[in-house]
Amino acid sequence: MVDKLGELTRTHTCGDLRVGDVARDVVLLGWVHRVRDFGALVFVDVRDRYGLTQIVARDDQTLVGSAKRLRPEFVVAVLGRVERRAPDTVNPKLATGEVEVMATEIRVLSEAKNPPFQIADETPVSEDTRLRYRYLDLRRSRMQANLELRHRVTLAVRKYLDSQRFLEIETPILTKSTPEGARDYLVPSRVHAGSFYALPQSPQIFKQILMIAGMDRYFQIVRCFRDEDLRADRQPEFTQVDIEMSFATQELVFGLMEPFVQTVFREIGREIAAPFRRVPYDEAMNRYGSDKPDLRCGMPIEDLAEVFRGSSFDVFREAIESGGTVRALAVPRGAAYSRKQVDDLNEQARQLGGTGLVWARYSPDAHVQSSILKTAGEPTVRAALERAAGEKTDLLLMAAGEPLAISRVLGQLRLAIARKDGLLDANRYEPAWVVDFPLLEWDAGEGRFVSMHHPFTSPIDEDVGKLEIDPASVRAKAYDLVLNGTEIAGGSIRIHAPELQRRIFRVLKISDEEARLRFGFFLEALEYGTPPHGGLAIGLDRLVMILAGESSIREVIAFPKTAAAVDLMAGAPSKVDRRQLVELHLRPEA
Ligand code: AMO
Repeated sequence: MVDKLGELTRTHTCGDLRVGDVARDVVLLGWVHRVRDFGALVFVDVRDRYGLTQIVARDDQTLVGSAKRLRPEFVVAVLGRVERRAPDTVNPKLATGEVEVMATEIRVLSEAKNPPFQIADETPVSEDTRLRYRYLDLRRSRMQANLELRHRVTLAVRKYLDSQRFLEIETPILTKSTPEGARDYLVPSRVHAGSFYALPQSPQIFKQILMIAGMDRYFQIVRCFRDEDLRADRQPEFTQVDIEMSFATQELVFGLMEPFVQTVFREIGREIAAPFRRVPYDEAMNRYGSDKPDLRCGMPIEDLAEVFRGSSFDVFREAIESGGTVRALAVPRGAAYSRKQVDDLNEQARQLGGTGLVWARYSPDAHVQSSILKTAGEPTVRAALERAAGEKTDLLLMAAGEPLAISRVLGQLRLAIARKDGLLDANRYEPAWVVDFPLLEWDAGEGRFVSMHHPFTSPIDEDVGKLEIDPASVRAKAYDLVLNGTEIAGGSIRIHAPELQRRIFRVLKISDEEARLRFGFFLEALEYGTPPHGGLAIGLDRLVMILAGESSIREVIAFPKTAAAVDLMAGAPSKVDRRQLVELHLRPEA
């Protein structure tokens, strides 16, 4: 039996009441969080988005009876009077913990089935169950706080960009493929048999056309769609804060984005120092083994080719002679690692695809110890330690091989060690611009160069002459913003000269015919007076994930998909009606 809300209106939320409200008559509306039945006395915790309030039912038999019938997740209206709790029953963990509401009436507005998990942040529950019953999962305070933070961040974004004279302009969702490197989601056209719309991987071409259209400064908080392999920081549909500005230079973009990031961090009460560090792509790859270095833990990778050139340790000498190098990672306080810990790291390096590691350290009495002490000789090992180990307590891990391959292995080892040894302080934020990306990368599968960013990215002026002769060496006016090891934004200064755009397509082996079919409208627009322009797109989900201190973007998206791109709650994707397929000119499965 449920009761009616009738004309009852809420006087306070479940997070409002304080000592100052004592003796006030109130109406609270919310969900039953917990019922504690002491016979003649029943406590009911009532919860809503704003908090939790303790309700007391006693004395009145009918009232106590109705309180006893309440079950978790029933929706109730509680009428009552605010009372101060006895000092020994005050709950300091609750904002409302100094008061309780002595109920005079409890109405059940809605009953609830027994939920598959308790609505409490600390209840362990599998992610599949959470996603299947997302409406219950979203009742948990952690998820409510995450979505509220997301809301506050988007508001701050709009306010900041508006203050910088950016206009929010919508671009089409049913559109044509944009090359961002993933597969497209396609939507068949009913009216045009055999033709398809593509959902945008980003509004890249449209925002550039908006610059040609004289809009000067554009932004959009926009959903993008990419059919790619998913991970903790990737969803098939995700949200970008997409930005483009006319007459942009890289410095102008950075100068605008650094205060943007600072503004957003103020939402969590944090001050971020600017200007941000800039790390050239080559340095990121060589010294951190990644184009999104986590700069919270130091530990850059050092090159020791000079130390081991001509060494009596054959493996290292030969690696250097054949064009490779020797690189080292200094592990803080690693000198005290046990034999087993070092063996484990060695095993880990092997699994990461590296060859074995060589180690070296100072003993407590300042002697040099190493797995290659005898073969390489004490002076060489000491030179390596002096060069790469900043502290006497460091453990030096060295490997030889192809330079970038060793850096990649040592880079992953660096992160694994930093994680294990607690060197990645969750309360520290280290943003950096990764700059000077290569324009192109060789795609062995396709047997041609492909754009590292997208084909509209401008090469650095002094490298343009090398486009046809030495494409791999051409650098781009492209930049990524990385924060604590996550790429949160990417962008570039664009090509605004049609002739250079056509040249890039030729280098990418995109024929004139193909370019015309795929981007003809854009190439045509470029011919009508294009201002130099550039911009970037911020991954909003990733940014909010970091602000919320979460490790997956699924925690900051109301209805995310699983790693298999499935919406477990709605059951999407799903089979469709045969008739629908026929209408869309698609052949039904046999
Ligand atoms: P890019 O492809 O680098 O650039 O994307 C920009 C940012 O979007 C986020 N992102 C994602 N977030 C969640 N799930 C995904 N599958 C996903 N893919 C990307 C990342 C990334 O840094 N049009 C260009 C931008 C430009 O040049 O202005 C673009 O889309 O945080």
